Amino acid sequence: MAYQASFRVWRGDAEGGDLRDYTVEVNDGEVVLDIIHRLQATQVPDLAVRWNCKAGKCGSCSAEVNGRPRLLCMTRMSTFAEDEVVTVTPMRTFPVVRDLVTDVSFNYAKAREVPAFAPPPGVAPGEYRMRQVDVERSQEFRKCIECFLCQDTCHVLRDHEDNKQRFAGPRHLMRIAELEMHPLDSADRVPAAQDEHGLGYCNITKCCTEVCPEHIGITDNALIPLKERVADRRYDPIVWLGNKLFRR
Ligand code: SF4
Ligand code: F3S
Ligand code: FES
Repeated sequence: MAYQASFRVWRGDAEGGDLRDYTVEVNDGEVVLDIIHRLQATQVPDLAVRWNCKAGKCGSCSAEVNGRPRLLCMTRMSTFAEDEVVTVTPMRTFPVVRDLVTDVSFNYAKAREVPAFAPPPGVAPGEYRMRQVDVERSQEFRKCIECFLCQDTCHVLRDHEDNKQRFAGPRHLMRIAELEMHPLDSADRVPAAQDEHGLGYCNITKCCTEVCPEHIGITDNALIPLKERVADRRYDPIVWLGNKLFRR
């Protein structure tokens, strides 16, 4: 049954803005993005929102609903009580372009800082052989749709603008873990994960994992194993002794 919902939507740009109140019709089975589209169609034609697939696969419609990072197209209106005010705001961690659209180029810059897959020399494409268990491990990470909700929610970035230079964030540390666990990758990625990409800033709060729409085990399957590799390298007594004896 259709009902009238109370929506509060952030409107503004890089200079500033505020929350505006709207009353919008909601029908059975609709998601928050449907309501934003109805707002555009009936009341505020210049409301800016980024979206593409409306199927939870392109990662474009990331925003915050009642303060929680979410995909607008995958958040059902039935999540909320009919008399609840639904507040929609842009992702807080990234600069606003306009209304619900943020500039996520920080993430593309960080992605470029991760060196590409480095197969051993002399192995031609098509000659690669991997065990199924290794394929499955990285397949989980490859489900990422680059929505950047994990980046938005991680307090290391969200609450500390100055950390952005030093911390790549969960999405990119997960990429480093994926490559580090790849049996054919010949690069040593452990020192850079800690020293250049800021793995040490992650204190395993798991908020990134909680908001991931692909339900990737970011913390348990990528970040913690990567931290263990750093710890093995630094605190393993044999490695420690080797470093002492042979390194100057
Ligand atoms: Fe989005 Fe999950 Fe990928 Fe992070 S890891 S960008 S939350 S899909
Ligand atoms: Fe941030 Fe996820 Fe670590 S939320 S602190 S990257 S576990
Ligand atoms: Fe593609 Fe929402 S519109 S993920």
